Amino acid sequence: MEDPARLRCCARSQHLTSLFPPTAGRREGLGHHIFMPSIRWSQQRWNNRYYWDWADDGETWSANWGGSTAQWLTTIYPRLAPFLPTGSLVEIAPGKGRWTEYLLPHCASYLGVDVAELAVASCQKRFAGHGGVQFAVNDGLSLPMVDDRSADLVFSFDSLVHAEADVIGAYSQEFRRILNPVGGVAFIHHSNLGVYHASAAVRDLLGHVFDAFSPTEAFMTRIGLAGWHGDRSRSVTAARFAELARSAGLACIGQEVISWGSPLLIDCISVLTLPGSKWDRESVYVRNRHFHSAARSSASCAKVFAPDSRVREHPDDEAHT
Ligand SMILES: C[S@@+](CC[C@H](N)C(=O)[O-])C[C@H]1O[C@@H](n2cnc3c(N)ncnc32)[C@H](O)[C@@H]1O
Repeated sequence: MEDPARLRCCARSQHLTSLFPPTAGRREGLGHHIFMPSIRWSQQRWNNRYYWDWADDGETWSANWGGSTAQWLTTIYPRLAPFLPTGSLVEIAPGKGRWTEYLLPHCASYLGVDVAELAVASCQKRFAGHGGVQFAVNDGLSLPMVDDRSADLVFSFDSLVHAEADVIGAYSQEFRRILNPVGGVAFIHHSNLGVYHASAAVRDLLGHVFDAFSPTEAFMTRIGLAGWHGDRSRSVTAARFAELARSAGLACIGQEVISWGSPLLIDCISVLTLPGSKWDRESVYVRNRHFHSAARSSASCAKVFAPDSRVREHPDDEAHT
């Protein structure tokens, strides 16, 4: 068990250094640095046991939804349901297994692949009792541990949003190789931040200026100036992702561009398959600005109906049994 005071202290300093680590890629913009996540940055951040968001295995990232169960039930499961149950599932970047727990009952076998040894070791411990479940460390680009044409579902959520176009391009080639040609499908959450490329520097600058006058964080977020980019990769957009998939020989059959944290459409969920598979169809593209307000609705719902909101045992209960 970590000492909570030490954890808090390290958490604060790690938060700062992980936002601007010495090795992270940077680009100049209006006189200040623009942060660019790299594989090395991911390895450093996610292999750090004191990284503040690891304190609760990533559950904190589900706070806007009212917890990971609520996020799974209201946001992920309804989108993934058409592809479940499935046979062989490959999860890219499971972290500490926030979604693994919900995926396992829906697949015959599971492989989680993460670039951070710490994440893989945590998952191996957490899911030790489950049969047909494996975890492996990779190089952040390739999946040599997965056989050709063997994956029925490739899943990744809340991880590859930080992956730049080169990483997406490399994984697309791998998806082409590993997907089952009959019914294989990939469900990938990634960045769309690149569409804000033109306004990024101005947004960053205005964020700093507004911050000096100390308006509330909530207000800054609402107008798309605070935390607006969420460390997303700036080289990826929905269109670029679809193009990379197509040049790898995949069919991109659906894209939902979504708001995340603020009303800005900085993310996208794309669905890929092989041309001629049972899922292949004309591509469907939607922009969903309600995604984040749906999260808030889920949080209200979770307050009343989530399992840990259960009514405490009533003294009269025994009389009714
Ligand atoms: C924000 S955590 C999220 C984990 C999990 N998806 C969740 O939602 O709780 C990001 C994880 O992605 C992993 N990761 C980042 N880039 C990766 C890459 N290119 N390939 C594989 N894993 C990667 C990190 O090591 C880390 O475990």
